[in-house]
Amino acid sequence: MNDRQAISAILGARVGVLGAGQLGRMLGLAGRSLGLELQFLDPTADSPAAAVGELLVADYGDEHALARLAAADVVTFEFENVPVAAVKALEARVRVFPGSSALEVAQDRLHEKTCFRGLGIGTPPFEAVSSWSELAAALSRIGLPAVLKTRRFGYDGKGQAVLRSEADARAAFERLGSAPLILEGFVKFQRELSIVAVRSASGEIARYPLVQNHHSDGILRKTMAPAPDVSAASQQAANQYIDKLLAELDYVGVLALELFEVDGQLLANEIAPRVHNTGHWTIEGAVTSQFENHLRAILGLPLGITDAISPCAMLNLIGAAPDARAVLAVPDAHLHWYGKAPRPGRKVGHITVRAPDTATLEHRVAELERLIASSDK
Ligand SMILES: Nc1ncnc2c1ncn2[C@@H]1O[C@H](COP(=O)(O)OP(=O)(O)O)[C@@H](O)[C@H]1O
Ligand SMILES: [Mg+2]
Repeated sequence: MNDRQAISAILGARVGVLGAGQLGRMLGLAGRSLGLELQFLDPTADSPAAAVGELLVADYGDEHALARLAAADVVTFEFENVPVAAVKALEARVRVFPGSSALEVAQDRLHEKTCFRGLGIGTPPFEAVSSWSELAAALSRIGLPAVLKTRRFGYDGKGQAVLRSEADARAAFERLGSAPLILEGFVKFQRELSIVAVRSASGEIARYPLVQNHHSDGILRKTMAPAPDVSAASQQAANQYIDKLLAELDYVGVLALELFEVDGQLLANEIAPRVHNTGHWTIEGAVTSQFENHLRAILGLPLGITDAISPCAMLNLIGAAPDARAVLAVPDAHLHWYGKAPRPGRKVGHITVRAPDTATLEHRVAELERLIASSDK
């Protein structure tokens, strides 16, 4: 293939995306600069990705809409809870990356943790629970405190409860028990880490460095990238975990793995079969963003370098927006706004900030956190 043919193979290639939220919007921004055409399918008319590609407004199972997406060169998804049936229907007609089998594993916390266990990846203790008597029996083995979660459809800490007493268990089962559940031991972790990696259709793998994540009320607030003070052993363990998962799931695209660090050991919490909030820092903080690398991977293009450029932090904007002028006055701060109406608990944007050293970074993060806190009022 000569250079001209190589370029024309990318220019105008069409990527279909199931879901059109902020992840789709950021995929679209990366795709546009590569000369790609993006087409999104989402049931919501005013979705964030509408600004960066064509938006088909229809249910995920809509036959006409799926037929239109099937005309793309490759299809992917940015929303983890798209119906597997829709992905399978597309797979019969067009290349879909990642595939439906990886999606199926990630959609069910029990399958996901069983997969980790089968690969020798450490997890919190867990058991499937589908009745009060099963919950009582699981609690007698796992003990309190514990975390009860719906197996499917949970996100941002929704669909789960921390159990500290039998009364908590009864109340949580009352609230969540109409769906299949999983009980997990409560992990007294020192910190939460995650690793984002990407595997291309040709089998090439690239991994971003481990990052440190801070959640409150089950929602990600802040990511520090790279995670400070990571031992070589932890980075190596995380690399091995994600490599095993990429191979086991025959995976193509970006995969994220959330981890708990406990006494120098890493336990796997969950995977996300898509670009991930703990990878947003890569837009300004890494040589190649997770969004660009996801597109490169699913199109079979060479992957971009995943090294961090400098110490960096990502702060989510949840439910409220700080004053943009004040944010942009912080040196090397970058504002990403998703075009969503602010609502309590809703991710409406994020800020990435870089600094030449960690002391300066901490100072800038503190200033931005102050601005975010004052906009929450
Ligand atoms: N077994 C556990 N022990 C301690 N904390 C947990 C446990 N499971 C979840 N959490 C906390 O709740 C957050 C959200 O849970 P997670 O399973 O990642 O669900 P979600 O799909 O909502 O992100 C985690 O990031 C962590 O802070
Ligand atoms: Mg999570």
